[in-house]
Amino acid sequence: MKTLLTGYRAADIDRRLVADCGEVTCHVLDIYHRHAIEKTHHLKTVCSPHLPEGDWDAVRFRTGPKLTSGELALDILQECKRVAAGKPVVVDFVGRERDRNSLVEKVFGKNARERSFEARYTASVQGAAPIELVSLPGCFCHRRTDEGGLALAEVVVASCRSGVAPSGGGQTAPVRFLDMGCGNGLVGFLVAGALKHVELVMVDSHSRAVEAANINSRNLGIPAEVILADEGTPSRMDASFDIFAGNPPYYSEYRIAEVFCETAKRALKPGGHCFLVCKNADGLRPVVERYFSGVETIPRRGYAVLHCVRS
Ligand SMILES: C[S@@+](CC[C@H](N)C(=O)[O-])C[C@H]1O[C@@H](n2cnc3c(N)ncnc32)[C@H](O)[C@@H]1O
Repeated sequence: MKTLLTGYRAADIDRRLVADCGEVTCHVLDIYHRHAIEKTHHLKTVCSPHLPEGDWDAVRFRTGPKLTSGELALDILQECKRVAAGKPVVVDFVGRERDRNSLVEKVFGKNARERSFEARYTASVQGAAPIELVSLPGCFCHRRTDEGGLALAEVVVASCRSGVAPSGGGQTAPVRFLDMGCGNGLVGFLVAGALKHVELVMVDSHSRAVEAANINSRNLGIPAEVILADEGTPSRMDASFDIFAGNPPYYSEYRIAEVFCETAKRALKPGGHCFLVCKNADGLRPVVERYFSGVETIPRRGYAVLHCVRS
């Protein structure tokens, strides 16, 4: 018996579940969870934006309001139905029975219809044409522009235009720009669209963010190398970047912000500029100061952008 599990994290998997499932393949959206499952359980794990096709005897989906946003749950359950191809789909629902039934009804009920949850919206920085971005369920801030990301893009563009940071104009080489935790690419594409002469590299740990950023690169005609990684792929982060920008998630007591700072330090050339946006500068500042000196705080849109230069 071959079972596909999706929505399970390392802590949700135990011997009984594995024994019930026969030959298990785990599907995850975020590469961090792939590393955790492989390390803890040594199970075959696939990290991809969509469920892998296979000759599955059963598909099991762990979800619930606190685990998966509504649209992502519907989108993944539609995929479960498709890849199960008539074989059983088990929904391990963490939450109220009636919410589970409502979810299942929308995908398996008699009025069910396959829906697309892709969204499009525009974003802009001053002095540049608006850009249209695609986002997918699972992407950060699906369906709308994050004000923190927008604040970050605005500050980077203003710093480049005022000559504080390089802009890649005139006879100079293109600016090498690293957008870490790129999501669908909001920050990188706004900056590259406004400055024109930019070599864009983007990193995200979430496979749907990487998929959306690749779609946006093609749609906008802005070339970008988009990398799926949760540790900044060390060998690529080689002191060759002029600018690093990040809007890190602030759960886990700044542990991820710390990964962003470490990557910035490795990736930037001496004299390269690091920009990080946050709500609470007092919380992030001590973390950034472990890696960089001369950190300045630039307020914007109710957020703080911390700026520093690699020595
Ligand atoms: C707050 S969102 C910012 C998204 C986008 N830059 C914006 O401003 O709208 C943070 C992003 O970081 C990604 N992320 C989280 N941990 C990461 C890690 N260790 N390495 C790379 N990306 C990570 C998340 O998947 C998410 O897309």
